[in-house]
Amino acid sequence: MTSTALDTRIALASAPGAEWWRSAVIYQIYPRSFADANGDGLGDLRGITSHLEDLKTLGVDAVWLSPFMTSPQKDAGYDVTDYCDVDPIFGTLADFDDMLAAAHERGIRVIVDLVPNHSSDQHVWFREALAAAPGSVARGRYLFREGKGEHGELPPNNWESVFGGPAWTRVREADGEPGQWYLHLFDSSQPDFDWTNPEVRAEFRRILRFWLDRGVDGFRVDVAHGLMKKPGLPDYFPDADGGSMGGDAADVPYWGQPAVHDIYREWHEVLAEYDGDRALCAEAWLPSIEQTALWVRPDEMNQAFNFAYLETKWDAAALRAVIDASLAAYAAVGAPSTWVLSNHDVVRHASRLALTAENPQGTGIGPNSPGKPIPEVGLRRARAATALMLGLPGSAYLYQGEELGLPEVINIPDDARQDPTWFRTDHERYGRDGCRVPIPWVADAPAYGFNDTGATWLPQPAEWADLARDVEAADEASTLSMYTTLLDERRERRLGAGSLEWLDSPAGVVAFRNGSVTVLANIGERPVAVPGGRLITSSGSLVDGLVPVDTTVWVETD
Ligand code: GLC
Repeated sequence: MTSTALDTRIALASAPGAEWWRSAVIYQIYPRSFADANGDGLGDLRGITSHLEDLKTLGVDAVWLSPFMTSPQKDAGYDVTDYCDVDPIFGTLADFDDMLAAAHERGIRVIVDLVPNHSSDQHVWFREALAAAPGSVARGRYLFREGKGEHGELPPNNWESVFGGPAWTRVREADGEPGQWYLHLFDSSQPDFDWTNPEVRAEFRRILRFWLDRGVDGFRVDVAHGLMKKPGLPDYFPDADGGSMGGDAADVPYWGQPAVHDIYREWHEVLAEYDGDRALCAEAWLPSIEQTALWVRPDEMNQAFNFAYLETKWDAAALRAVIDASLAAYAAVGAPSTWVLSNHDVVRHASRLALTAENPQGTGIGPNSPGKPIPEVGLRRARAATALMLGLPGSAYLYQGEELGLPEVINIPDDARQDPTWFRTDHERYGRDGCRVPIPWVADAPAYGFNDTGATWLPQPAEWADLARDVEAADEASTLSMYTTLLDERRERRLGAGSLEWLDSPAGVVAFRNGSVTVLANIGERPVAVPGGRLITSSGSLVDGLVPVDTTVWVETD
């Protein structure tokens, strides 16, 4: 599978001898919203293949695809029925192979999403479990328990679903009577596996090998902090401000249990059987960077998303602190830090960085949300934040559409919303649809070139004509042009494999050197001087020769 073109490109992108994932820029494709070749309103694998050349032009090293496996799509594919096949809405395994080969020909690596915490309730194992008796082998693959109360009418414990409501659902037994309960940390259509069961472990080693044999370069592992639950499944009494995915709360009996690490040690061994630096990236929301670093110890995974960075406010001191803490914590275990500002679960950073009210992860913004962002402020900050991030050593993740400066879509009609969060909270939380709207390719085309029929699974806003890729590609000052320049310079100057040296700077300014580049982000209240040297690029225009507020510059210092 591995082509010569791939090797050449990766050699350029990484420091000599270093694995590709230490410094790669990885672009997240959310397949249902990327490009739709068959015109049914949902993106697909052939749509991805048809736009790989655009990603090559953009200059990314790898793509991560959110799930495209067989699924009833109750949680946009994070509810899998067959881990080793492609859902017909996305295409076929042959389409996947074509896409993978086309990516590799262009020197782009491919990471797929693996969802091991839970399956769909339509998975054959869960159907078998429902049909089987309490205590059976089939029930033992999931977390079935007797209820509390005189007749078992109360859930086995008080855990709540991340999407709202109880984390337990009661089933009817063969005699038609209410019976046991099963655990689902997410939607009731997503039953949690019992990872203490060796059969579950063996099945996932098989699934890993299935995709590795096809030639994938690695896996993004969904809910990598959740697979093991505290023995005895004790009640949990969260702090009032504990984040739903566990990012802020300590000692949660279903997040970050020590036994989870054995699973990744097993997987590490599986990946080590293959050539080509295959990689595992953890989606693990944990209370501290130091804890997250435990997922990337030398015999476990390779990368973990840096959600602490993503959640940092637009504040110079806070950013400097989180960068320092990240570099130190990951270096202590021999891993690279990653950096990320947006994904399919959070408010897009072109909106988030200008929110004026608290908005915990998963809440989303809609017409009635407090503190809605001023779009111009959000975009200016987003561009500055990206230029800061892409100057950092390590690996960076981008989310499709951020290279166009897309904002969160706020005015999605209620009846178009699809995130289970919206339904499970009785419309109290808008959820994540606002960052998942199909992206615009061509201003003057049906569905902005997402397909040629005009159908889209979520409506696209009228203002997006100005943000379409063809418009931005023709404009040197566009966000797309800025990303292309930053990625090009980052690769040429090997910044991903570089190192960071802080520079003295006034309050409100983040300034550091990475190799030949000085990066300065002005997050303060007044314009500041451009560092000495040749200006490489700027996230916004200079004003009177100064770096204005909410602007980042890259300057060549050698
Ligand atoms: C992860 C995914 C999210 C999904 C959840 C349940 O957080 O990123 O989209 O809803 O897991 O699988």
